[in-house]
Amino acid sequence: MRDWEAWYQAGETPWDRGSAAPPLGELLERVEPGFWGGGTVLVPGCGAGHDVRMLAGVGLDVLGLDLSETAVKLVSGRERAGGERYEVGDFLAAGWSGGRSFSAIWEHTCYCAIDPDLRSRYARSAAEVLEPGGVLAGVFYLTPTKREGEERQPPFAVTVEALEACFAPWFECVEGAVPERAYPGREGKEWLAVFRRRA
Ligand SMILES: C[S@@+](CC[C@H](N)C(=O)[O-])C[C@H]1O[C@@H](n2cnc3c(N)ncnc32)[C@H](O)[C@@H]1O
Repeated sequence: MRDWEAWYQAGETPWDRGSAAPPLGELLERVEPGFWGGGTVLVPGCGAGHDVRMLAGVGLDVLGLDLSETAVKLVSGRERAGGERYEVGDFLAAGWSGGRSFSAIWEHTCYCAIDPDLRSRYARSAAEVLEPGGVLAGVFYLTPTKREGEERQPPFAVTVEALEACFAPWFECVEGAVPERAYPGREGKEWLAVFRRRA
């Protein structure tokens, strides 16, 4: 498993683009506030918290979760944008939430960061903490750019078919499309999808 904590301690976070995922801005502009279910929105693998802050900035209550204590310490020390908070935890570990549930999940570069063999566990973890009817919305990497020798390192690509099959045991796929907005260099390489937790 990649040692995320070591990367944050070394200050080497090349995935951090310094701003929220452009597809999240796109989604927020077109969905009603009720889309997020009225409770707390969970952002697993939140890193520097840019997406958490964007969600909190539109008035949502948001919990950013990350494996890395250093990342969580860094983001927790900043001025908060409304209902923004952070916690150290392993999204894939049974019981990390202590029985709490969430009305929605926003996914961005956590799914592609974990070992592909653990993807089903990711989907099951999401199903376990999401209220019935709640949505998991996220941007998924279809074709990350890789240099030679990086094939066995994250980000790991996924196909739309594999993504839908991974969530199918617990979720209905509501929509999916290539987002119109992307970070420079990621245009056309991502998939913005919404899955709804079955009751
Ligand atoms: C590629 S980084 C992306 C961070 C952030 N989403 C961003 O786009 O800047 C992946 C993040 O997921 C976190 N992570 C990896 N596996 C995790 C797990 N099982 N539970 C919680 N966080 C995890 C890492 O510590 C890291 O911050």
